[in-house]
Amino acid sequence: MKADIGNALDGALGLDRAALDDLDERVADAHERIAGGRRESEHGYAALSLPETCDPEPIRRAAAGFDPETVLTVGIGGSALGAATVTDALDSPVDARYLDNVDPAWVRDLVADLDLSETVVNVVSRSGTTAETLANFLVVREAMESAGVDWTERTVVTTGPEGNLRSMAETHDLPALDVPDGVPGRFSALSTVGLFAAAVAGHDLDELLAGAASEAGKLSGSLYDSPGYAYGAVSYALGERGAAVNAMMPYAESLERFAEWYAQLWAESLGKDGRGQTPARALGATDQHSQLQLYRAGPADKLVTLVRPLESPDTGIPETDLSGLEYLGGSTLGDLLDAEFRATEASLAAAGRENVRLEIDRVDERGLGELLYAMEAACVVYGELADVSTFTQPAVEWGKKAARGLLGGGEFEEAEAVRGKRRLE
Ligand code: PA5
Repeated sequence: MKADIGNALDGALGLDRAALDDLDERVADAHERIAGGRRESEHGYAALSLPETCDPEPIRRAAAGFDPETVLTVGIGGSALGAATVTDALDSPVDARYLDNVDPAWVRDLVADLDLSETVVNVVSRSGTTAETLANFLVVREAMESAGVDWTERTVVTTGPEGNLRSMAETHDLPALDVPDGVPGRFSALSTVGLFAAAVAGHDLDELLAGAASEAGKLSGSLYDSPGYAYGAVSYALGERGAAVNAMMPYAESLERFAEWYAQLWAESLGKDGRGQTPARALGATDQHSQLQLYRAGPADKLVTLVRPLESPDTGIPETDLSGLEYLGGSTLGDLLDAEFRATEASLAAAGRENVRLEIDRVDERGLGELLYAMEAACVVYGELADVSTFTQPAVEWGKKAARGLLGGGEFEEAEAVRGKRRLE
């Protein structure tokens, strides 16, 4: 992956090269901390070692027994978005679907739409206790039973060493993949968590991990060597100068889900202690006709992150005799998208609005591995520079406990707080 940070300098927020050079010294310290954490397999830092530690063989073996129409991932947050990002981005004859939300009508319609006898279900929860995931799985399991499908033959569990899901896997002797130690949900795309659906869909896990490994190999004590660190450090520096929002805007439909994955990574990791940067999801060129107005002329409180593949399959634009449209005929939709990209980038820069360009060669396994890993490294270095606890998610856990408690799933003080009996931080 390449990162061009030129348009992040000397804009409205006043980040200049000298400030970036000063920051580079702090990146060196942050890198020491990150490298040490990786060496000791500390919680969170271990995720940046997945290109070396993730063995794709057990994942491929678990997937090999199936030749389904559909692979259905049942999980939420970090236990769904990695798989969704990879399989949405890449073509496959296997339909990859996700059940994360518990909106009743949506769940009912999605399940009704599937041929369950041709579906393999991957139920994913690191903790093994997440209410949304377990509830959705129970709905799917019952639908399979009603359709006369042996759910135990078509379910693969991905979970940690404890929790309800682990017990279920043991009770029913289900195939189970282990969530690696030290890898938080939103950093688990390149592990058993994100890769099972990709394997069922026939994607090349080795290339995904090789793409990630090539970005891992660029991490050094200088932001100028590593696109991931450069992006993370610039985002942090602009955040400190008032870029409260980071708008992720890929110029590829296939990367729309990537923006959702990124939003979770950025928000859940960095939103701590009154700090953080609010991720906004956008899509080029569609959002040039909506959000771009705000990005260029609204408050100068944003960094816009433009992502594009350098090569994509293309479609020609037919010649036309329509007056005034001759310029379109003979070019391609790819040419048009490229022109839109360059126009947006230049228009933001001309208005002094900071933007960064991230490029991968293609939206393929390698490019995705690079992109996902580089963004994780960016997030970790941002967290180090901001001195936040990147790998925890206390606010998310608060809500999980409160919801379980309200439904009678345990004695949680968070639920009492919701019932109004007590106030809690
Ligand atoms: O990144 C995280 O830690 C969260 O988004 C979790 O992935 C999410 O809450 C699901 O948790 P679990 O995998 O325990 O079901």
